[in-house]
Amino acid sequence: MAIESWIDVGSCEELAAKPLQQVLLGRTRIALTWKDGEFGAISGVCNHVGGPLGEGTLHGDYVSCPWHFWKFHWRTGEGEPGFEEDRVPAHDVRIENGRVLVRSIPSTKRNRKPHAPHPLAREPHREPGPIRILGLSTTAMHAEHPRYSTSEDLLQCALDAATQTLECETRLLRVRDLNFRMCEGYYSKAARACTWPCSITEMDPTDQMDQVYEGVVHWADVILLSTPIRWGGASALYYKMVERMNCIQNQETVSNKHLLRNKVAGFIITGGQDNVQAVAGQMLGFFAEIGCQFPQFPYIAHSRGWSAEDMHNNQTYVQRSVFLREGAAGLVTRCAEMAKVMIASNLGEHALVRGGRKGHQLDTKAQLQGAVAQPDGTAPETASTS
Ligand code: FES
Repeated sequence: MAIESWIDVGSCEELAAKPLQQVLLGRTRIALTWKDGEFGAISGVCNHVGGPLGEGTLHGDYVSCPWHFWKFHWRTGEGEPGFEEDRVPAHDVRIENGRVLVRSIPSTKRNRKPHAPHPLAREPHREPGPIRILGLSTTAMHAEHPRYSTSEDLLQCALDAATQTLECETRLLRVRDLNFRMCEGYYSKAARACTWPCSITEMDPTDQMDQVYEGVVHWADVILLSTPIRWGGASALYYKMVERMNCIQNQETVSNKHLLRNKVAGFIITGGQDNVQAVAGQMLGFFAEIGCQFPQFPYIAHSRGWSAEDMHNNQTYVQRSVFLREGAAGLVTRCAEMAKVMIASNLGEHALVRGGRKGHQLDTKAQLQGAVAQPDGTAPETASTS
């Protein structure tokens, strides 16, 4: 049974200097507010995914979580209007001899209003059927005045070959047609603030990055991505998209959860000048970190080299090149064959535990302290000293 006690959290004068701050009752985090000459105290742990409410901001009568901005009343802990049932515990506060005392036992209980899970949150499951190829074109252009794109043309060639000769299902997403926000850096607040589904996707129903997530996580066996070379890198649109895909990789780090399983990636890179290998290197690195496998020779590329600026001739060259078209068909064939191998072998969970070991504490220091690494790859437990 909990023992009721009032805990001294500091002097009135000092604590009244900030409208909101985090204080501790032992190990319990409290969001302590000072408003209109009174103190309020509610749990410092947000109902959503545990953000630190005491590090947020006080807007009117509500404490706003610093991670994704859910709001809770500064004294009652109730959610904002319409979400009152979604409340965090409130604690009584009293003042004695210039000190602020907070009652350790909350006066109200936490209640989580059920929220329907986002459709993307469902468990990835491959439906039976032919190999599915998702083409992602990351070239940008004027919507009303489209132009010819060498990378997108070769991507379309690959998808046509997949449909006509490999009997695959195909989809093409032109990323420029999607209206989506830049990654807003939730990961930079805390690893757990970068959620799956993406925090922005959950908060903003108009954001269309869900189409990429749906295709990559739930539909495709093969992700075939095309990009132009822009100043030695992939297109800005490519980077805008993959920054938003951090939430896929982050699931490996924070939850040991593999959203991409038995997926293959391949790339088509074209540019008037060069840096093909650097662009390919970044793409291989990123898609490896989200759990993709690659066929042998996982990209095709074309560039005219440093001394060529005659881009109109380059367009004609690509349009007429049988060799490049055969290359695109060969790439998608290798990807589809690799996908068949992956699906048939179906890598077991044991092969994927904490893929890449990124963000995973090495056990060297822990061993020195007498700790034992857990066989499932979770953080070592410190050996008992008793
Ligand atoms: S809003 Fe608080 S953790 Fe997401």
